[in-house]
Amino acid sequence: MKMNMEGSFIVVEGIDGSGTTTQRDLLCKWIKDMDREVVSTHEPTEEGIGRLIRERLVHDSHDYSPETIGLAFAADRLIHLEEKIIPSLEKGKTVVSDRYYHSSLVYQPEHGADSEWVKEINKHARKPDLTILVDVPAEVALRRQKERDGGESSIIFERSEFQKRIRDRYKNLEEVLEENIYIVDGNRSIEEVHEDVKKIVEEELL
Ligand code: ADP
Ligand code: TYD
Repeated sequence: MKMNMEGSFIVVEGIDGSGTTTQRDLLCKWIKDMDREVVSTHEPTEEGIGRLIRERLVHDSHDYSPETIGLAFAADRLIHLEEKIIPSLEKGKTVVSDRYYHSSLVYQPEHGADSEWVKEINKHARKPDLTILVDVPAEVALRRQKERDGGESSIIFERSEFQKRIRDRYKNLEEVLEENIYIVDGNRSIEEVHEDVKKIVEEELL
């Protein structure tokens, strides 16, 4: 890995059920097997505002505005950075996060928040060294989610349409953010996708 004093910050993104958690875990294991210190993490976080998001904002019967939810995600992110990501990078550790500001840039505008404003409230979140998008068709991701969580209700069509739009937004993200995003074809076996992810990390960060 990069021979500087700071560790590398890698982000894995994708629609719900695309396999980001699976790929983040395999990537962390691979890095660990090279005797590198690695921190595996995700957003929303599990504590403080992250917990509030998980327990209240995205499940409550009350419909919070996309702005309220966007601000909560952004605040959770900055706390995540200050408490965990930056200190780990400063210690030379590699950090791999399942989701980061890219999620806010695709989900919150799809719920109605202004895209430029979402970008603005996330401008103090440092750029990752490498961002990988696990790209799969919405139907495939929904099927995987269904298999993972067992069963699914009647709103599957709506969810599929929503995830299709989220996928499109992810694919346009390079333009919106003006930063490099590596897209891997996630519609293959877990191992094949992992091979691609490793190749990108090797080429970009080794
Ligand atoms: P996400 O974190 O993006 O929601 P997960 O990593 O939890 O997705 O994967 C969702 C489900 O799909 C899990 O049961 C996982 O084992 C499975 N899965 C992940 N990647 C693949 C793949 N490439 N092929 C088939 N199944 C997969
Ligand atoms: P997550 O816990 O990663 O769900 P999953 O494991 O099923 O992918 O994320 C929860 C949801 O929060 C997911 O639908 C994406 C959404 N989200 C946002 O809307 N904005 C954000 O900034 C983040 C980080 C997530």
